[in-house]
Amino acid sequence: MKIVVIGGTGLIGGKVVERLRKRGHEVLAASPSSGVNTLTGEGLDEAMAGASVVIDLANSPSFEDQAVLEFFQQSGRHLFAAEKKAGVKHHVALSVVGAERLASSGYMRAKVAQEQIIRASGIPFTIIHSTQFFEFLGSIVKAASKGDAVHVSPALMQPIASEDVADAVADYALDTPANGIVEIAGPDKISMSGLVERFLELTHDPHHVFADVDAPYFGAILQEDSLLPVGKARLGPIDFKSWFDRSEYARAA
Ligand SMILES: NC(=O)c1ccc[n+]([C@@H]2O[C@H](COP(=O)([O-])OP(=O)(O)OC[C@H]3O[C@@H](n4cnc5c(N)ncnc54)[C@H](OP(=O)(O)O)[C@@H]3O)[C@@H](O)[C@H]2O)c1
Repeated sequence: MKIVVIGGTGLIGGKVVERLRKRGHEVLAASPSSGVNTLTGEGLDEAMAGASVVIDLANSPSFEDQAVLEFFQQSGRHLFAAEKKAGVKHHVALSVVGAERLASSGYMRAKVAQEQIIRASGIPFTIIHSTQFFEFLGSIVKAASKGDAVHVSPALMQPIASEDVADAVADYALDTPANGIVEIAGPDKISMSGLVERFLELTHDPHHVFADVDAPYFGAILQEDSLLPVGKARLGPIDFKSWFDRSEYARAA
């Protein structure tokens, strides 16, 4: 079966491409570096020819509110125009657990807009809501750092390793379309401030962590359960310490 992975060079995309190829499928890893651009529509018709499944794992190069909204809206329109011409039977996309509860975040509004376009497309679909990837911790720390302090919310999260995300995406892509949302998460719940503290200790980073209920996450103030799955999520087995020990951070520490 031919499967197109949009964003097939990214953190999750690269791993999904590898898994589906190992399972014997013809997989096209599509991204601007291979001449396929969802924002402009370039290369999409050629990429989709003969495809049964499309997995959208692209992300916006800019997280600025208007830019990210335009990225997901324009990309969605171009993708579905090409998918309809090609007769694609299953569209799979990766979104964020709790996106619909975080409307004060421009990034989350853009993910919700992406989901609305998917639902309106008429093509059978599966939207996978994932919790935060462990790999995203460095960016959380960077965005929350001021001088030698890191102010992060004490809200709960249930982070997941990118390897487990890729396993789930590959499985859902080969399954029948859910025509709705499925949720995935890591094995453990922990406060964001607690997780950042553990991460900084292990990386010997001297920043001080402050648990601050008013600290925004992607522009949104979090409630205790804003980032937790709402239903029964598929849980990845890799916990924080196992992920850390295999990560680039452990090699550098
Ligand atoms: N980070 C988290 O914790 C988290 C949690 C839940 C869900 N998600 C979602 O997971 C998805 C994948 O994230 P990721 O971290 O794997 O992304 P990533 O590593 O940043 O990769 C982004 C991919 O998008 C491609 N891309 C960029 N502009 C494009 C365009 N105009 N047309 C086609 N492809 C384009 C890039 O291609 P090039 O390599 O050619 O630039 C790259 O392959 C995102 O949609 C994100 O919202 C993330």
